[in-house]
Amino acid sequence: MKEKLQTIKAAAQNALAAADSENIIEELRVKYLGKKGELTAILKQMGSLSPEERPAMGQLVNEAKQELETLIAEKKEALKAKATELKLRAETIDITMPAKEINAGGLHPLNIVINDMIDIFQSMGFDVVDGPEVETDYYNFKCLNVPEDHPARDMQDTFYLAENLLLRTQTSAAQIRTMETRKPPIRVICPGRVFRADEVDATHSPVFHQLEGLVVDRGITMCDLKGVLEQFAREIYGSDTKVRFRPSFFPFTEPSVEVDVSCSECGGKGCRVCKGAGWIEILGAGMVHPNVLRCCGIDPDVYSGFAFGIGIDRITTTRYKISDIRLLFENDKRFLEQF
Ligand code: PHE
Repeated sequence: MKEKLQTIKAAAQNALAAADSENIIEELRVKYLGKKGELTAILKQMGSLSPEERPAMGQLVNEAKQELETLIAEKKEALKAKATELKLRAETIDITMPAKEINAGGLHPLNIVINDMIDIFQSMGFDVVDGPEVETDYYNFKCLNVPEDHPARDMQDTFYLAENLLLRTQTSAAQIRTMETRKPPIRVICPGRVFRADEVDATHSPVFHQLEGLVVDRGITMCDLKGVLEQFAREIYGSDTKVRFRPSFFPFTEPSVEVDVSCSECGGKGCRVCKGAGWIEILGAGMVHPNVLRCCGIDPDVYSGFAFGIGIDRITTTRYKISDIRLLFENDKRFLEQF
């Protein structure tokens, strides 16, 4: 019986050593240690031994059983570790692969300039207001003292969406909306997109940008307008910038002016940027027309005010020496990446 036990044990050990899957190990466990297993069979034969032989033999069988159980557990563990290792190796990431390029975004040059302009006017106490791009005839023209058949409408031909609904031609519409909702003293700016039916070329675009300014209070004069615009021009173009007022006409201001700044590139001598003029026209302005104040319920005998409309695209192209306004709208990354 002892020899038989040795043989079974040795056979089991060999088989286990060669086993390379959990299934095989399980089969071996059943074959040797299961209810009908070979080792179990020996235990059952113990009854045939004499009482003196029984304890020693019992101990041997139990030892063999324990040894095999440990061996099976170890073998299972080893197989599991090996499987994990294989899985990890298969799942490793190749970190030498080139990564996808990430394109960092940036502010559009127009927005850089708009932000700078807002900073300058905020430091002078102006609030920023917003207005709709789709306007009614009333806000864009009528209340701005441009009646239906006024010839000034020709200069601002635009896109009509319906009889009285149009894409705003000027941010001046914000003047009316502001005076309807605020009482003097008023000090606001309104930057935004405006639209006109223009042919596209290097200096014209059917979409462009303006920054409207409006101040209404008691005793506001043209001196205040001049002071604010001179301060603005110096901050945008440098402290030795000169400002020039030329008489002009706008239906909603009286008197009206066109405002030029000395060319920051040549200092006024004339160059490519100012097209030889020495001056660059950047805005229209004037004292708010009494009819406009009256239309908004503000008494022109008590209050006066000034307004201005700055061309943001012009400021941007002269600041960055951009020769063609179309570059601002084409979304060419090679151009935009430079800012
Ligand atoms: N809205 C005028 C334009 O687009 C500019 C302007 C604004 C003039 C405010 C006077 C006062 O041409």
